[in-house]
Amino acid sequence: IEEVYGIICAEQGEIDNLSKDIKDHTETEIASRIFMQGTLYGRQVVLVLCRPGKVAASITATLLIKQFNVDKLLFVGVAGSTHPDVHIGDIVVGTECSQHDLDVRPFRKQYEVPELGVTFFESALAEKFSEAVSAFLAGSFKSEFAESNLDMFDITVPTLHKGLIVSGDQFIASKEVKSAIVKGYTEIHSHTPLACEMEGAAVAQVAYEMGCPALVVRVISDEANDKSLDDFGAFLTKCSGPVIGAIVREYFFS
Ligand code: ADE
Repeated sequence: IEEVYGIICAEQGEIDNLSKDIKDHTETEIASRIFMQGTLYGRQVVLVLCRPGKVAASITATLLIKQFNVDKLLFVGVAGSTHPDVHIGDIVVGTECSQHDLDVRPFRKQYEVPELGVTFFESALAEKFSEAVSAFLAGSFKSEFAESNLDMFDITVPTLHKGLIVSGDQFIASKEVKSAIVKGYTEIHSHTPLACEMEGAAVAQVAYEMGCPALVVRVISDEANDKSLDDFGAFLTKCSGPVIGAIVREYFFS
């Protein structure tokens, strides 16, 4: 029996191309979310728009596992960069995810999930995804996206990065807030986050607790600074859908 992938996006701009390309699908509404079951790039999937934030992502991930029996979870969306080498348009594959707004000091180290004793949720799917997408970036990406909206951000071929993605119920739009998060992870855990967003680590924790393999992949929409509001809006509406569609397609066809 073929495995079923649960695919989650938080925003309409992120899911646009995937929901256009899903075939022969049925729709089920649960908890005010529409779960689309069908075939996407040759694979069986359940595709869903979860809306932003960790709680929204957690409900959705739980339903995908318990109600729809997915075998694996893939969260795809945009994120702010938290590292000087990670630029708008770049792709960050989450080898690990952590919740930057979780802090039960002095009982635990900052960011550790109490009682569970985990700070970083690792993904077993990161390597395969990275290989497929690296081959695409080195190959046909440039011609597929020639004269696309990516020109707005001077993106020719994005760089793929593998590393830590951090999540919190907060849109990061200042250098100071970003620096505090980076400093915390670097000083306390010697881990430097590459990107910040609002759902990935929640999905990763649900998946960990429920024994389901999961992966978070993010395309950088902004640099989590005072330009974030404009960059995020423009990237989300004009660039994120096609890039996310293409990387999921390359992964599924690989
Ligand atoms: N998603 C995309 N950009 C983000 C940012 N700057 N902060 C939080 N989530 C984001």
